[in-house]
Amino acid sequence: MKLISQGITRRFFRNGRNTNFFYALQSTDFALQEGAVTEIIGRSGSGKTTFANILSGLLVPTEGSLYLDGVELYALKDERRSILRNRHIGMVPQGQTGLQSLNVLENVLAPAMMYGDMKGREALARQYLEEMEISDLCDVYSNELSGGELRRMSIARALINSPEIIIADEPTGDLDDDTTALVLRLFRRLAEKGCSVLIVTHEQEAIHYADNIYRMEKGVLSEIR
Ligand SMILES: Nc1ncnc2c1ncn2[C@@H]1O[C@H](COP(=O)(O)OP(=O)(O)OP(=O)(O)O)[C@@H](O)[C@H]1O
Ligand SMILES: [Mg+2]
Repeated sequence: MKLISQGITRRFFRNGRNTNFFYALQSTDFALQEGAVTEIIGRSGSGKTTFANILSGLLVPTEGSLYLDGVELYALKDERRSILRNRHIGMVPQGQTGLQSLNVLENVLAPAMMYGDMKGREALARQYLEEMEISDLCDVYSNELSGGELRRMSIARALINSPEIIIADEPTGDLDDDTTALVLRLFRRLAEKGCSVLIVTHEQEAIHYADNIYRMEKGVLSEIR
């Protein structure tokens, strides 16, 4: 499945004042390679999350277009865009996310309940939780988890609808070296099965796992490998 951005920018207002704005993302053309792991590195505040959120269908760009297999995502109504996004793009957000009234297994299954189909999903959820080494936490509520456990839960959740595209924003930021390797190996395996994987990070660590590397600098994206 192809994900392509053309001339995408994003402007933000400072202090909510519309006289005081800046571009967090300059005009960006980008095509995510299928069946590969791509990485965007860059310093804090350079615009990585802004771009990742736009690519995930979560943040409306100021200018430009995003195409998912030829469909212009931001030209669609919100509801239709949500459906396509949830079926085809698995997003691991940078912040801590978990629905507190649900346990870990239910959190992982939530996107399948809302936008996918439930056939075989519980077994898949348990398999990913096993791989993430948190299968013993299935019936624990998400507000009882550590930061790294919560991160691993959100990785399993991003994969539950078997998306063709995976966008992970600092997915290993709060994980130790062994757990980081676990997550990166899983992404690599999914890429080998044909997924397009995008990892956004300010660390260099994942670099050994990436097929393509880009750098974000003050809202400007450039290819470095
Ligand atoms: N909703 C917003 N309103 C105003 N400014 C914003 C908003 N979101 C982000 N910014 C600003 O846009 C710039 C880029 O932010 P972004 O979150 O994309 O950076 P980042 O590269 O992901 O940084 P980090 O590595 O710290 O996560 C920053 O200067 C930030 O302060
Ligand atoms: Mg960020």
